[in-house]
Formats: sequence, C-alpha cells, structure tokens
Amino acid sequence: MSNKLLSAIGLAAALLPLAAAAQGNADAGKTKISMCIGCHAIPGYKSSFPSVYQVPMIAGQSGPYIAAALQAYKKGDRSHPTMRAIAGSLSDADIADLAAYYGSK
Ligand code: HEC
Repeated sequence: MSNKLLSAIGLAAALLPLAAAAQGNADAGKTKISMCIGCHAIPGYKSSFPSVYQVPMIAGQSGPYIAAALQAYKKGDRSHPTMRAIAGSLSDADIADLAAYYGSK
C-alpha cells in the first residue's frame, strides 16, 4: 500500500468523529435548552437588557441557520451581548446538538 493511500485513510479516520459531532444530536440538544427557553420559548417576549429587544422565535428555524447564528455570536460576528455570552459558553458539540434539536421542531 502506498504511503499516500495510508495517510488518506488516516485522515478519513481522524475526520469521522468531527463529522459526527457536526451532525448534532437532537436528543442531546433537548437536555441543553434549559438555558434558552427562558427567553426563546415565549411568543412576543421582549428582553429588557441592554435595551428592549424582541427575542426571535428559534424553534422551527433550520438547524444550519441556528448553528451559523450561534457560531457568529460566539466569534463576535454578531454583537448582541446576551447571546454572545451564552454562545461563548457553548462548545461546538453543544451548538450542533442545539441546532439539531431546534431544527427538528
Ligand atoms: C436572556 C435572553 C436569552 C437567552 C437566555 C437566550 N437567548 Fe438567544 N437571543 C436572545 C435575543 C434578544 C436575540 C436577538 C439578538 C440579536 O438581535 O442579535 C437572540 C437571538 C438568538 C438566535 C438568532 C435568531 C435569529 O433569528 O437570527 C439564536 C439562533 C439564538 N438566540 C439561540 C439561543 C440558544 C440556542 C440559547 C440557549 C443556549 C439562547 N439563544 C438563549 C435572547 C436570549
């Protein structure tokens, strides 16, 4: 077997767990939404800090959209302070799980 082929196999094996994590697990996500429902599950709810803010409904939005939004808050590309603090506390696996859960609602 050539070295090139061997390293290709090694790379594929190394990437597999990453692909699994990026997939997300809706059941695992369900256990992580307790810190989200306080704001996001109430139709018409407005948070009052730092200014009065309409909280968007996230259930039913597509998983990839939710994941992209959370990554953007985490990286600082989106600037809402509360969501930045929350997304910053989430791991990539948490984000994938939450996206899978909300995307399935
Ligand atoms: C303290 C209230 C609060 C909590 C708790 C909270 N959020 Fe948010 N979230 C907001 C507000 C307000 C916005 C709108 C911010 C903006 O305009 O950028 C938002 C925006 C979002 C968005 C972007 C929605 C869109 O339409 O672009 C996503 C996705 C999101 N939150 C997911 C979550 C998840 C997942 C959790 C739990 C881990 C969570 N939020 C917890 C208040 C909250």
